[in-house]
Amino acid sequence: MLRVSKVTLSYGAEPVLEGASLKVETGQFTSLVGPSGSGKSSLLRVVMGLQRPKAGLIDLAAGLGQVGILFQDDALLPWRTARENVALGLRARGASKPEAGREAVSWLWRMGLAGFEERYPRELSGGQRKRVAIAQVLALRPSLLLMDEPFASLDAIVRHRLTQDLLRWVEHEKLSVLLVTHDLEEASQGPRASVRECYHVPIPRPRDLVQARAHPAFGPLLGRLWQDLSEEVGELHAATIQPLRREA
Ligand SMILES: Nc1ncnc2c1ncn2[C@@H]1O[C@H](COP(=O)(O)OP(=O)(O)O)[C@@H](O)[C@H]1O
Ligand SMILES: [Mg+2]
Repeated sequence: MLRVSKVTLSYGAEPVLEGASLKVETGQFTSLVGPSGSGKSSLLRVVMGLQRPKAGLIDLAAGLGQVGILFQDDALLPWRTARENVALGLRARGASKPEAGREAVSWLWRMGLAGFEERYPRELSGGQRKRVAIAQVLALRPSLLLMDEPFASLDAIVRHRLTQDLLRWVEHEKLSVLLVTHDLEEASQGPRASVRECYHVPIPRPRDLVQARAHPAFGPLLGRLWQDLSEEVGELHAATIQPLRREA
């Protein structure tokens, strides 16, 4: 469905991505996990063609027309009702006004927003606005869903409900998903989650091993890597490592 091969990107002199590769198979839910600033959003922008990488390839089998995008900030137009917001995309795809309106209403219902069709975004809660945004995206029947920390601004309970509802639809429609998040819990929600950490290494290249160690970012980064890895590895092996007994 989507293949990102060895993408390298920098903003001016600042290297952000270096040889980033990942694959989303058809019907697969892939999570891209990494700390804030590691380049996750940048990678999505490259996939969407909004950012030109220095090197690397994006192979999007279905084409951008089949891609649905959900960001942390919804892109609802404040001067349009929920129904009109959802209908806009359908109109752009060639649906007639009454047809788009009917479709929009049925998607809002599916998202649990029956009775809220004529409300403006400011008259909706954060969770409800997010549901309108989801209806907007799903109404266009994408086969690949790109999500960038879509529920980060919502409280835990609303986020959980929304995630469940969205996942049910994703499974039902066998959508391919690439979810970007720094939240491991969110990432593990995917039915077939494949978690993969992307570390941003702010040390200039070419790197010399000795000089790299002297870079102020090296210590903290090593510490973080060590901790993340040892947490994973520790769970497997902690029980098998015994303290050395001193013989008297
Ligand atoms: N348009 C931009 N211009 C310059 N630097 C940017 C731009 N966007 C992001 N960056 C920098 O690139 C790095 C990665 O950012 P981003 O892709 O947003 O990370 P993430 O989504 O993982 O938090 C950060 O250091 C950020 O400051
Ligand atoms: Mg981001």
